[in-house]
Amino acid sequence: MCGIVAKVSSENVLPFLIEGLKRLEYRGYDSAGVAVLQNGKIVVTKQKGKVNELEKLLDENPIGGNVGIGHTRWATHGKPDNINAHPHMCNDQSLALVHNGIIENYQALKDILIEKGYTFLGQTDTEVLVNFIDFIKKSEKLNTLEAVKLALKEAVGAYAIVLFDKDIPDSLIAARKSSPMVLGIGIDALYIASDVTPIVKYTNKIIYLNDEEVVVANKNAEYSISNLKNQAITPIIQEIEVKIEALEKGGYDHFMLKEIFQQPSTITDSMRGRINTDENWVHLNGVEDNLSRFLKAKRIIIVGCGTSWHSGLIGEYMIEDLARIPVEVEYASEFRYRNPIISEKDIVIAISQSGETADTVAALELAKEKGAFLYGVVNVVGSSIARLVHSGSYIHAGPEIGVASTKAFTSQIVILLLIALRLGKAKGTIDERKYIELISALESVPSKVQTILENIDQIKYIASEIKDHNNAIYLGRGISFPVALEGALKLKEISYIHAEGYPAAEMKHGPIALIDEDMPVFVIATNERAYEKIISNVQEVKARKGKVIAIVPFGEKIISKIADHCIFIPEIEDEISPLLSVIPLQLLSYYVSVMRGCDVDQPRNLAKSVTVE
Ligand code: G6P
Repeated sequence: MCGIVAKVSSENVLPFLIEGLKRLEYRGYDSAGVAVLQNGKIVVTKQKGKVNELEKLLDENPIGGNVGIGHTRWATHGKPDNINAHPHMCNDQSLALVHNGIIENYQALKDILIEKGYTFLGQTDTEVLVNFIDFIKKSEKLNTLEAVKLALKEAVGAYAIVLFDKDIPDSLIAARKSSPMVLGIGIDALYIASDVTPIVKYTNKIIYLNDEEVVVANKNAEYSISNLKNQAITPIIQEIEVKIEALEKGGYDHFMLKEIFQQPSTITDSMRGRINTDENWVHLNGVEDNLSRFLKAKRIIIVGCGTSWHSGLIGEYMIEDLARIPVEVEYASEFRYRNPIISEKDIVIAISQSGETADTVAALELAKEKGAFLYGVVNVVGSSIARLVHSGSYIHAGPEIGVASTKAFTSQIVILLLIALRLGKAKGTIDERKYIELISALESVPSKVQTILENIDQIKYIASEIKDHNNAIYLGRGISFPVALEGALKLKEISYIHAEGYPAAEMKHGPIALIDEDMPVFVIATNERAYEKIISNVQEVKARKGKVIAIVPFGEKIISKIADHCIFIPEIEDEISPLLSVIPLQLLSYYVSVMRGCDVDQPRNLAKSVTVE
């Protein structure tokens, strides 16, 4: 949460800061700001609202300088307003700082500073931190770098910070702990950002900073990295490849729509080189390299948040069914705080699109401490989780920018299915015929997703029918239950319609009380194993006048006669059905959101990368 961006060079850095903030806006968008060093003075422009608003303000009152920092905020401490927006300056306006993370002991530090005569304009922990650095600098008679290090040793919590000092004109100082930060090395400029997206247009040479590392960067593109213990760090420079088109909307109205429509190719990318239908093999390097560890595992624990937790639930069905290894799926945030029983014989699989979700990182750290083997199913290359785990598989879905996750979900499911198939094959728990069937069915998924994407008119029509409702229920059984959860999450995230996902049979134990003619009920009835039972559940809803929208396979004859609307999708094996059945639900949420006039890509109160607890 919160995006930070900075540049030092011999030219005006403001255009880069604005462009960079727009790329990072998925991380938070309730206020934005920049600070530059202009004629020896720090000038800050910041305000509530999105980067576009900030840009307008800067067009009216231009500023510029060859060193600058920028921030797009997702509020933690203090409401989103002009004052709490970053950057923040210290009382004498000699330092300007942007921050992503939370300084947990900020109140104690603030009390000390108030006693020393410091004053505060807003409520943020960041304003405390910049003043604390200033206080240490002056009281201990240190230079700025030394003061930053000493202050950060006292700060409890998570931070990625960039600051500059008006008296050190051509230089930036940045540091991180538990919040992501990268340094981009250009020929005549240095770039700092929360991730690589603002930087890739200018350089592909990236250093991923590690916890408690501090970088000093100057306008001659010279930099040095050391840690809080003052040890010099020799960094590893990585050459990364992200095509700039991958960060643009590419003709679509919204990133979410683009990402939904990309799924035939992103699903293909996530299995490319990993399955072969001629020779019937499945190969994931990370699993292969650690096969005996997987085969000896007493248990697999899957941790994740949000959509990634839902794909974890689907993984549970797949791994238990095909590989017969017990699986538990945990919300990362609950797992880390409930003193879980973890041993060296456990494998913990972390699922995360961003690879930065704070709770998932913390759950992994806990599991690592207890000796478990950690495996990552991650999208963002080089992210914190990718670097923390012992092994893993990238999902290769490409940058996902819409806050509501779509293509990452389907690619996560592909990887989990490949894990289940490989382990099932190695353990002999899956028969050969089934194994071959599933590999070839998986290969057919991209073209089947394409078929669903061509049925837009019906989906738009159904969206127009439900757009004015205030509630919705999503029902599924077996492997379709997590799809129901994901459908409900998509609707509430971007349309602000209250929606609940429920196991269809469980509906009788509560939600059925809610059903009347005003309640749209989405039923995912694509898995054969639960088919007969779900027919009865649909009857129960219809008997109470609920409006049923069912997702069924082509040729289905019973539910399609009872339901108010039926979305037909291609037939596929039960184990793979979520990869198809979720697509119409993503599209429906998208169109409902557009029809309700909501901000599809940047829904209120949400952020794509949740790097605070
Ligand atoms: C946020 C996003 C969700 C995402 C979740 C987990 O809540 O808005 O779309 O599913 O975080 O994120 P991760 O990057 O760990 O998959």
